[in-house]
Amino acid sequence: MKRETEADNEMALGNKEPLLQVKSLCAYFPIYNEGFVRKQIDVARAVEDVSFDVFKGETLGIVGESGSGKTTCVRSIIRALKPTSGKVIFESKTLGKVDLALLEERQMKQVWREIQMVFQDPFSSLNPRMTVGEIIAEPMVIHKLAAGEALERKVLSVMEKVGLSPGHRERYPHAFSGGQRQRIGIARALIMNPSLVIADEAVSALDVSVQAQIINLLQDLQEELDLTYLFVAHDLSVVRHICDRVAVMYQGKIVEIGETESLFAQPKHAYTQSLLASIPSPDPDRRMEYLESS
Ligand SMILES: Nc1ncnc2c1ncn2[C@@H]1O[C@H](COP(=O)(O)OP(=O)(O)OP(=O)(O)O)[C@@H](O)[C@H]1O
Ligand SMILES: [Mg+2]
Repeated sequence: MKRETEADNEMALGNKEPLLQVKSLCAYFPIYNEGFVRKQIDVARAVEDVSFDVFKGETLGIVGESGSGKTTCVRSIIRALKPTSGKVIFESKTLGKVDLALLEERQMKQVWREIQMVFQDPFSSLNPRMTVGEIIAEPMVIHKLAAGEALERKVLSVMEKVGLSPGHRERYPHAFSGGQRQRIGIARALIMNPSLVIADEAVSALDVSVQAQIINLLQDLQEELDLTYLFVAHDLSVVRHICDRVAVMYQGKIVEIGETESLFAQPKHAYTQSLLASIPSPDPDRRMEYLESS
């Protein structure tokens, strides 16, 4: 969670126990020729030698332009994609320290309970005929963790946590606004009682005011539930607000990583500098000048 002062930050992250350690992670995709006989001619190095730690209780941001490899990195961590090489050391509550790159599917099932994802569009892959209650309950049903009344109680409890009213349970997600849909996505992640939540562009499609509400909700939940976040976004102003530390990705590599405030104040890498320079100015006067002179 983003702390107000450096001292708070140091105190909170002082013991720096990693929950996740990504070491020399590579994810390559084959590139094939266009000819009649399909032949691999090259590889696309979507993630190239990426290393970083995520400490317990912190929010680590990954930023970078479209195509820089952020999603591929996250997908390799959670084994939605088998990494080409590298280690992903995760401290599981039940399995202890394990390398996710090597785990068998049976053990990954346990890890998939402890690491939850929140996506930009939480419903794109879901059956539109499912009610909000069914959507939130589904991960528990899939993992056979609860049923009947116990499950209903859990659903209502996480709905309350994310600011949805019990009456929303029987409704369908298409009837909700973007911000409410994201609350449903967060409830679906939280019902599993995860230790790590990975948000991939979770607020990118929302209006600025709704973005702020969801970010505040994520911060409150982090404190209440002792969560660790890996927060992927291309919007630097969002990242600046929520992240303790930021990793900057460019063409598959991490070019810079550091405490959010120092990275924003003194970016070292030329790419970080250009990313920062491209943040639109929120100053209305400057916009007026631009409009007048154009
Ligand atoms: N399944 C795949 N097969 C081949 N190439 C892929 C595949 N998935 C991703 N890539 C390539 O890997 C690179 C990184 O893509 P990725 O989606 O990880 O970027 P990103 O940083 O998440 O971008 P965005 O901000 O647009 O979400 C891109 O060049 C992309 O085309
Ligand atoms: Mg992406």
